[in-house]
Amino acid sequence: MSPIVMVLGAVLVIISSIHMLASSRRRNSKASHSDRPDQKAKDVLDIKPLNGLDYKAVEPNQFRPFKPIFHITMALQADSPSELITIDSQYLDRVSHRRQLIAEHGDMVHACLSSGLEAVRELHQFLIRDYLPTRFPTMFRLRDQDRQFDNLVTGRSFPTAAPENVEEAEAALRMLAETVEEDMFLLLGEPEGHRAVAFVCCFPSGFDPSTKVGRLLREIHAPVPSYDKIGPSMERFFSRIEVGKNVKRTNWSMQTHSDLFHYDRHDGHTSEDVLKAEDIDMSKTYARIELQTLSRLPKTRAVLFSFKTYLYPVEDLKKEGLGPQVADAIEGLKTGNAPGMWKYKGAPQWGEPICKYLRAG
Ligand code: HEM
Repeated sequence: MSPIVMVLGAVLVIISSIHMLASSRRRNSKASHSDRPDQKAKDVLDIKPLNGLDYKAVEPNQFRPFKPIFHITMALQADSPSELITIDSQYLDRVSHRRQLIAEHGDMVHACLSSGLEAVRELHQFLIRDYLPTRFPTMFRLRDQDRQFDNLVTGRSFPTAAPENVEEAEAALRMLAETVEEDMFLLLGEPEGHRAVAFVCCFPSGFDPSTKVGRLLREIHAPVPSYDKIGPSMERFFSRIEVGKNVKRTNWSMQTHSDLFHYDRHDGHTSEDVLKAEDIDMSKTYARIELQTLSRLPKTRAVLFSFKTYLYPVEDLKKEGLGPQVADAIEGLKTGNAPGMWKYKGAPQWGEPICKYLRAG
């Protein structure tokens, strides 16, 4: 081999070693950026503490999203990551009820597929190590060098260790279900669309949540009339959600009972039977409204869909002077771009007597 070739070879070896070293540094610095132990998700997301909060003094949100014509739309608004979880004076009753529902209906109200393990792990760690103790310091506390999570309201304590397998992930979901009122679905993007890979849902509004896991968004919404009008834009939107750019929306329906756990198809809306006014107890008739949020988990890139359920007595809506507005909204279910909503929401059964009650002087 000539000396020139040897020198050239040596130069090449040196250049390629420098290049490999530089790319490995770049890779490491990328990994350490997202996993830096000193930069928790709460700092990245800027979770604002509610110092000194007395949850018993917090009035539940009063949503009144009643429009004269029902149009199926995404109608999303920007939301702050700090507001992911909402806590008010009903907290203890609601989470105690959730604990009981899990004991009675376990498999129906939560599940994790093996493809959902990492996402549940990320959600669990974020909520109990970062979000909850930061946002609600008067309610949740870490102790024993962050190994234990205390719920100061219920008196329950849980280890903070991350779930390592599907069984532990399901236990983590049960723990979350009795710690916050929000129901949650985790979805992962696939070429075909977004698929639910884990959920905890104690307050379903007329569907069996266990039938939704493993399904794509369009399959989940198969019973929803005119879903095809928003389905494709929802999929596009879900693909583009950015970490920290949370969004929220509300929906509404009516129910003639006070059940929060309601897995039967709405008010049995397969039946066309019209309820008579005397068959409906207006003191147990409610507008049911969900505050829904969508956000992206930074590491697994899973989409978190969470919702908190509110029940507002129709008697209160009437006292507020909203009777005619709510009655118009109920009748408006038939007149918008998704007329099947009238039947889907069960209005053939209760629409007429409730509207009559709401409009009566
Ligand atoms: C932008 C996001 C979303 C929009 C606009 C939307 C829209 C809707 C609409 C219009 C309904 C009919 C009832 C109502 O008026 O609320 C519905 C039902 C439902 N949605 Fe969504 N949805 C969204 C996200 C999700 C996600 C991420 C899940 C996760 C699993 C989900 C699960 C359900 C379920 C389980 C039902 C009940 C379906 C049934 O009756 O079986 N939705 N959704």
